[in-house]
Amino acid sequence: MNAPDLAPSRRALAHVRDVLDRHDAWRASTINLIASENVLSPAARAVLDSDLLHRYAEGHPGGRYYEGTKFVDELETLASEACRRVFRCGWADVRPISGTVSNEAVFSRIVPRGATVIAHKVATGGHISHDRMGALGKRTDTILPWPTMPDGYRIDVTAAKDLIAREKPAVAVLGRSLFLFPEPVAALRDVATEVGTKLVFDGAHVLGLVAGGTFQQPLAEGADVMTGSTHKTFFGPQRGVVLATGADEALRAAVDRGVFPGSSSNHHLFSLPSMLVATLETEVFGAGYAQAVVRNAKALAAGLVRHGVPVPFGEVGHTESHQVAVDVGAHGGGKEVAAFLSTQDIITNMNLLPGEPGKNAMNPRGIRIGVQEMTRVGMGPAEMDEIARLLADAVLHRRAVGADARRLRQRFGAVHYGFALADLAGRGLPAVPTARA
Ligand SMILES: Cc1ncc(COP(=O)(O)O)c(C=O)c1O
Repeated sequence: MNAPDLAPSRRALAHVRDVLDRHDAWRASTINLIASENVLSPAARAVLDSDLLHRYAEGHPGGRYYEGTKFVDELETLASEACRRVFRCGWADVRPISGTVSNEAVFSRIVPRGATVIAHKVATGGHISHDRMGALGKRTDTILPWPTMPDGYRIDVTAAKDLIAREKPAVAVLGRSLFLFPEPVAALRDVATEVGTKLVFDGAHVLGLVAGGTFQQPLAEGADVMTGSTHKTFFGPQRGVVLATGADEALRAAVDRGVFPGSSSNHHLFSLPSMLVATLETEVFGAGYAQAVVRNAKALAAGLVRHGVPVPFGEVGHTESHQVAVDVGAHGGGKEVAAFLSTQDIITNMNLLPGEPGKNAMNPRGIRIGVQEMTRVGMGPAEMDEIARLLADAVLHRRAVGADARRLRQRFGAVHYGFALADLAGRGLPAVPTARA
């Protein structure tokens, strides 16, 4: 048999390597303000490449369908314990592979077919998995929107209580993708209990803030279950999690079946150790990080306003989270502005602003900004002011700010609020005891 000609493949492979290298170099040199992204610490990143890339584990530690999982069991047990500690709760399922899958797992088991539910519309910041076109819509068409205050965004608590009392929904979903202020979980708890509504808090965006003890504590305030992504404000790789107090045994059993076999079989084991490292980082650095993130978001909003860029919700301080909504409707709209900013190495996304019709989704008035990644690389309020100035120049005057953006980013190379490779190796510690033969 003739040896295959590898030249074309090698050219193709070199191309793959080159595109990936250029992506890595580019994104590491940009001011990334995407609200759903973050960067891993060196320690969390180092454990992504292991034999777990090749393996399967279905079920729970100690109750698997395949052999070969004794070390996976140990890691999964540690991850679940660490999550229960950082979220101060009795039950954590670390198997969902993303926030959407976490929602699918929960909705699939606690929303009876055709039931009435309440959730945010996409236009008021809701996620597609809360919509007719997503996970919730696979269970029911009767998705009532939360009533809002005149600002078109914050929940009108009195009207929301009336709605729950009147409609007796099976499930009410709080939490959103444009997530600026805490949700009124505690205020809705009693009426939800009275009529048997399960309160689901989608904490995908704010998971790292909740873990760090800022923003709000949904489970302590009365949410029955909290779902989340582990890679937005949380320090982890791309995965999901479902959390609950654990007091409601039936709910726990239902969601457990929703996770497996309901929404996944194998759960992408390679990223589990990284998620565990991230959770251990949260125990040490989470509180300081969460406070810095919220401080930075407020500083950025204030800086934007000072530089003449419209930021909604000024009457309530613009934001309490990692996000800032910016109204660029008078400056070309979200699509054009986000595309221009990208050419200047500032990465954002277009976003509907409250009150806009959903049909504007492909050219909304707004852009959404998140400061969590730039906080993690060490930026503080002074840098937020610099970013505000760059954004103002670019948005209001279409000035080229790319060189300044890159210069600013270059000053912040390392990932903070996390462990170094040396920490992972246990350097400076006594050797881990090993069993004697
Ligand atoms: C509120 C909300 N829930 C769920 C998700 C889905 O998360 P994932 O991308 O991890 O599936 C998102 C994603 O941005 C979100 O904003």
